[in-house]
Amino acid sequence: MSTVTTQIENHVLTISLNRADKKNALTREMYQLMADAINTASLDPEVKVILLKGEGSAFTAGNDIADFAHREEGDNVAEIVAFMNALTQCTSPVVAQVHGVAVGIGTTLLLHCDLVYCAPDSVFCMPFINLGLVPEYASSYLLPRLAGRRKASEWLMLGETFGAEEAQQFGVVTAIIAAEKLSEHVEAVCRKLAQKPAFALNQTKALMNNEQDAIQQQISAELDIFLEALSTPAAKEAFDAFINKRPLNRDKFK
Ligand code: COA
Repeated sequence: MSTVTTQIENHVLTISLNRADKKNALTREMYQLMADAINTASLDPEVKVILLKGEGSAFTAGNDIADFAHREEGDNVAEIVAFMNALTQCTSPVVAQVHGVAVGIGTTLLLHCDLVYCAPDSVFCMPFINLGLVPEYASSYLLPRLAGRRKASEWLMLGETFGAEEAQQFGVVTAIIAAEKLSEHVEAVCRKLAQKPAFALNQTKALMNNEQDAIQQQISAELDIFLEALSTPAAKEAFDAFINKRPLNRDKFK
């Protein structure tokens, strides 16, 4: 079974992360599969809505840390860039269905979705600082605008987790839906979107996306620093500690 599955039904493309044993941690292959699915859908007039969700007990634990650890010098994480380009430039509405953890890019990507529904058990985190890394994909631009500078600083500089209620209060999610009703609710929302006239729907999204130039500029600035951060001793120590399930050596993490 593929690590990302796709299905088109009633004009909705559902992209499911399917690596449940690793909490849907995202490998390079998974980013490319998602990028291809979104780009193919953009050319398919049958697809009017895109839904992102995760199989198993989590939405996603974020980037596969082993992939980061084994990245070669000069490797510019092309598959992640391909996925985020596809997502940020997607003209159709994108809905996210979240349960369990949404870590790292799992939270960041929600900032580029149009509607986000989560189960009450959802836990969000952008732990980049705790890995010696920096914010990515315009989260350092979008979060202060969405949640206010004070809250964004807490999330990005302390890297602590937050729950569904805080996510809703600060605009990261649209609504919290009881776990047993989540799929049904999201399907109903997708159905409603698919029944709207495509031109008006896509233009409504485009009109609200009127900060794209600034967002793309920030994504590019963040990516340069992110790639530099991946090679620092602090990041290497954090990756090695996670992979080997050992505590951080604070002497190497500074
Ligand atoms: N990269 C690679 N593997 C990951 C992963 C990640 N981001 N997140 C989880 N996994 C793996 C674990 O190593 C474990 O593998 P194993 O069964 O072979 O030991 C498996 O997924 C299950 O994870 P586990 O840690 O046992 O589950 P948990 O419920 O106790 O904790 C998390 C879940 C997400 C809180 C925890 O796994 C975690 O903190 N992961 C790292 C998240 C992260 O920092 N992501 C951002 C990267 S930028």
